[in-house]
Amino acid sequence: MAVAPAVTARACANIALVKYWGKRDASLNLPAAGSLSLALGALVTETTVAFDPELANDVIDLDGQPARADAAMRVTAFLDLVRAQTGVQIRARVTSKNEFPTASGLASSASGFAALALAATKAGGLDLAPRELSILARRGSGSAARSVFGGFVRMHAGVASEDAFAEPVETPLAQRVRMVIAVIGGGVPKQYASRDAMEHTARTSPLYRAWLELVPRDLEAAEGALARGDLEQLGTIAEANALAMHATALAARPGLVYWRPATLAVIGQVRGLRECGVAAWATIDAGPHVKVLTSEEDAPTLAMQLRDIDGVTAVTISAPGGPAAVVET
Ligand code: DP6
Repeated sequence: MAVAPAVTARACANIALVKYWGKRDASLNLPAAGSLSLALGALVTETTVAFDPELANDVIDLDGQPARADAAMRVTAFLDLVRAQTGVQIRARVTSKNEFPTASGLASSASGFAALALAATKAGGLDLAPRELSILARRGSGSAARSVFGGFVRMHAGVASEDAFAEPVETPLAQRVRMVIAVIGGGVPKQYASRDAMEHTARTSPLYRAWLELVPRDLEAAEGALARGDLEQLGTIAEANALAMHATALAARPGLVYWRPATLAVIGQVRGLRECGVAAWATIDAGPHVKVLTSEEDAPTLAMQLRDIDGVTAVTISAPGGPAAVVET
């Protein structure tokens, strides 16, 4: 059999405004609750997949280097799911690169697995509908299910086995919002893998149950804010939800502490600017970096203020990103 043609796909990273933190099934990677995110046009992963009968193993190259063993195993396990769906049993060559701000230390399993899901299924001759692609991408990484779509995206927790998928949310805010990303501590690798950290939180945090009760309420309120085009309400929910996620992780035993001094300094600055009428609400994922939801008008002022904070190593303004797409050659 000849080498099947290579397919290249691109997907944007996303930042959750209502976070996914906890699973109801680890083997199928089903989330314990829903989540809501914004796709980021400035953070893109481009991935090329070619199935090749000459290969004895999958060959995986990430950002110009052979993938480390743990990352390679995750990609191969994902390709096995694609092989099971497409019936293509041969190995693949995967080349992936992140077009992220230089030396940002931001990594994205979300954009990575969304681009991989699209490129690998197409290369295997399978044309999945977006919902099916979202379900498949979720198996690679929960947040990747959201990166199949552009703009604001809602992830459904589902109730049975294969019914957890994302879908886009229409809102008048889609054009008006920006995300300012303040990178803290340069390219320091992640302290704990989010997979293990979620499991540890669910098992040991006395606040985990309260967290799971909070998420549906925050989701409903955030969706109301999106429908009304109410940025202030959306930002207020996003900041509170991120703090609640971190409170839950901090209360795990031993506690998960993602923040650095500069993380707190950025949160303080964001709150100070807000008092002065700047649209700015902070959110933080499983790392020290702070992402600030803002408006198109206020983004430049905000970015300038955050650049001056000690320990902030890069600041990028991102507009909302589009859906995962095949790159036509
Ligand atoms: C804090 O999607 O990376 O960014 O499903 O185990 O791969 P896995 O987890 P992942 O977790 C993302 C956690 C988060 C919040 C979010 O993006 O919703």
